[in-house]
Amino acid sequence: MRQKLVVSVSGKGGVGKTTITTLLLRTLLHHTKHQLLVVDADPVMNLPAMLGISIEMSVGEAASQLRDDIDAGSIPAASSKQDRLEGEVYEALVEGDKFDFLAMGRTEGEGCYCFVNRVLTQILDTITANYDVTLLDMDAGLEHLSRRTDRNVDVLIIVIDPSKMSFDAAVRIKELAKEVHIEFKRIWVIANRFPDSLIKETAASLEKRLNNEGLELAGIVPADDQIVEYNLKGKSLLKLDDNHPAVVAVDAIAKRIGLLSEEQLLELLGRT
Ligand SMILES: Nc1ncnc2c1ncn2[C@@H]1O[C@H](COP(=O)(O)OP(=O)(O)OP(=O)(O)O)[C@@H](O)[C@H]1O
Ligand SMILES: [Mg+2]
Repeated sequence: MRQKLVVSVSGKGGVGKTTITTLLLRTLLHHTKHQLLVVDADPVMNLPAMLGISIEMSVGEAASQLRDDIDAGSIPAASSKQDRLEGEVYEALVEGDKFDFLAMGRTEGEGCYCFVNRVLTQILDTITANYDVTLLDMDAGLEHLSRRTDRNVDVLIIVIDPSKMSFDAAVRIKELAKEVHIEFKRIWVIANRFPDSLIKETAASLEKRLNNEGLELAGIVPADDQIVEYNLKGKSLLKLDDNHPAVVAVDAIAKRIGLLSEEQLLELLGRT
């Protein structure tokens, strides 16, 4: 039986969501046998580059095509629309040796996407059921919460960087999730891009400040020149060495938040 744990990575713009998603994937690839799906839910689509994969079609492009066909009246019954979109989503799925990947992209042009968005959410539910763990790299900001794109997410990871703005954004994300009644099983904060000196100095006080806001710190990922260098060269972060400081930090975080063993996944899902 699949564990079907859906993890989303959120936070303010530029804090390192895509980087953390990639490093979490790297950890899961190295330390588990989970069946993995990675979804780029950010229309800007930075994740394929960090993973070193190329995509031919996004789900949004498939949806736009379908909408145009609906407008043109060439698809009559509602059921056939759903079948068609489902087929296209599976076509947009990049099946790799070690993990599968789906780029949501964006729907092109104007018009009402209600039908398409609804069907997409349903299809995503169906697809994620085929995997032990699905990692969602979200877009910056809060809109995905108000649209309730995250409603089937089990574990919400909020990334912050060493700035008050990103801390405030984390608190706001947690509050908004509550307001729109999204019930995550766990919410964790990952502090990213902290200089080593700051880590020693502020780890304890950061944890305390987060706890005061009802948030929990999963761990701190150091600021790292090699991450910058890899991105500059367009080299996949999946290729970072095992003993690399950011990798070691994310390995520990994945363990702490319970992503590494089947027992832990089941526990997270409340099935034990
Ligand atoms: N730990 C780190 N050390 C050094 N640089 C980092 C680290 N984490 C992220 N970066 C750099 O910060 C920049 C932003 O990272 P990333 O794209 O992961 O953020 P994001 O939150 O996904 O951004 P967006 O909101 O645009 O989607 C990138 O250039 C990345 O290389
Ligand atoms: Mg990103």
